[in-house]
Amino acid sequence: MTVPISSDLTPFLYVIVCGCGNAGDIGTLIDAAQKRHWDVGVIATPQGFGFIDAEAIATLTGYPVRSAWHAPGDARSFPPADAIAVAPASFNTVNKWAAGICDTLALSVLCESHGLGTPTAVLPYVNSALAAHPAYRRSLELLRETGVLIGTYEPHRPKAGGGAHRFPWHEALDLLEPRLGRRPVSGSP
Ligand SMILES: Cc1cc2nc3c(=O)[nH]c(=O)nc-3n(C[C@H](O)[C@H](O)[C@H](O)COP(=O)(O)O)c2cc1C
Repeated sequence: MTVPISSDLTPFLYVIVCGCGNAGDIGTLIDAAQKRHWDVGVIATPQGFGFIDAEAIATLTGYPVRSAWHAPGDARSFPPADAIAVAPASFNTVNKWAAGICDTLALSVLCESHGLGTPTAVLPYVNSALAAHPAYRRSLELLRETGVLIGTYEPHRPKAGGGAHRFPWHEALDLLEPRLGRRPVSGSP
């Protein structure tokens, strides 16, 4: 696929998708972002990749969905990120990110985002049993302290089918837009 070059005037949003029950609805966020004049590139965790239609997303965004690192020497396929939205964010990725674990491309981008100063919003999609775990609460607190913007989705009841219908995809854009600043000079995967 030919990868388009993002215009300097159009902010580039990385959307990081985790292995959550509502990940298949990611087109809602892509569509909302494009309507608000963002270019979008999607990075899925290896688990998240199985929940999405990567071909449809590539058609929608104009960029291949990334899930693994490039081979050394290969060209990078995304421009640097102006902002990052982690949506939906899993319990697993939230905790690993906060702990500085970097064993997926998605986590590597997230762990670097702090040092690069890239505005980052996270919209977790977890049930209330997972959300009650003390490590999760600590992880969110730590991420908040480092400047990560946290979504307001209230965890759904376990085994109740989830709360996909009330997941606030647009909130990622609402949180990030006021933080848009200068395009960082490096950091593309
Ligand atoms: C069908 C299915 C739905 C899942 N839904 C969620 C979910 O909504 N939220 C969540 O935190 N984990 C969910 N999980 C568990 C995650 O996929 C699992 O923790 C995985 O390790 C997450 O990997 P990732 O963080 O690298 O994407 C689900 C798993 C399956 C098989």
